[in-house]
Amino acid sequence: MVQHTATSVVTIERYIIEQERLYPEATGELSGILYDIALAAKMITNKVRRAGLVDILGATGGDNVQGEEVQKLDVFANETIIKAMDHGGRLCAMASEEEPGIIPIPEGFRCGKYCLLFDPLDGSSNIDVNVPVGTIFSVVRKITRGTRGEMEDLLQPGRRQVAAGYIIYGSSTMLVYTTGQGAHGFTYDPSIGEFLLSHPDIKIPNNPRYLSVNDAYEGQWDENVKSLMRKYRGLEGDRRALNVRYVGSLVADFHRNLLGGGVFCYPANKKRPNGKLRLLYEANPLAFIVEQAGGAACDGTTRILDLQPTELHQRTPLFIGSRAEVELAHETLAGVAATA
Ligand code: AHG
Ligand code: MN
Ligand code: MN
Repeated sequence: MVQHTATSVVTIERYIIEQERLYPEATGELSGILYDIALAAKMITNKVRRAGLVDILGATGGDNVQGEEVQKLDVFANETIIKAMDHGGRLCAMASEEEPGIIPIPEGFRCGKYCLLFDPLDGSSNIDVNVPVGTIFSVVRKITRGTRGEMEDLLQPGRRQVAAGYIIYGSSTMLVYTTGQGAHGFTYDPSIGEFLLSHPDIKIPNNPRYLSVNDAYEGQWDENVKSLMRKYRGLEGDRRALNVRYVGSLVADFHRNLLGGGVFCYPANKKRPNGKLRLLYEANPLAFIVEQAGGAACDGTTRILDLQPTELHQRTPLFIGSRAEVELAHETLAGVAATA
């Protein structure tokens, strides 16, 4: 693999090919999926950047499977990804936060050996107030026989992912992905329409700066969650306080903590005993990324990537970021010494 520095001009397509060459047996199908995701990301960012100008603000009036009001940009992002991915011949099924069940590959299109699961627009409540939003994706290999994907192919534990990533539509648009060979960041240059390598081999700082949590739910947390938050805030034990940063877009909060060091927490609470975030297309992909960057992710007692899914849209509590902070969550919530 060519060693790139941040000054070398490398497009995401070239980087994907160079990574693929590390595997002589690679067929190029996974690379093709990543190309198509980058294309969809360019189409979505183009719309997001003009959201205030084009008539796509405001709600559609419809609700998604989560019973949440769907913003028009959610619908656009969902349809853009499906249309970009459904005819490439590399996927045998898809699943989206915006769709109740399996998204089949249309009749007449060839099926491939991978499944794509995605949150087309994360942080959608922030669209109209110009706070960064994102897209999150996860790729797993088909495990059932036959050509078409089945629910069993989608309900695999996160450790079976072959690729994962996110796009953040922030002050710049960035795509971060992993195929298990490190986490790599690319910044979109709209003047040439390319994602260029800007953050090779991202490593999350062990010296954390940020705590991201919505403490409006404090009254609904159980005692050990309250104790954990006091520790993060330097009010219990001998820790210094972390700076609280929470924008309400998981991708934006996660990305800032990935680069700056810190921990994002969405604990269970009395109203949401499994938390709010979805396992398959929010927690799993970000857990894959953060572990590749030297961090960790758990639900309070179990490593996120070891959770066995039972439902497509199931939720999970999430503690994700710098390793020591996640281990502190594990110790405090599960009452066990963190693994070395
Ligand atoms: P989505 O827009 O895909 O439904 O995700 C919203 C999620 C996540 O982005 C964010 O971290 C969380 O909702 C914020 O939830 P609260 O408003 O309850 O803090
Ligand atoms: Mn989301
Ligand atoms: Mn969403």
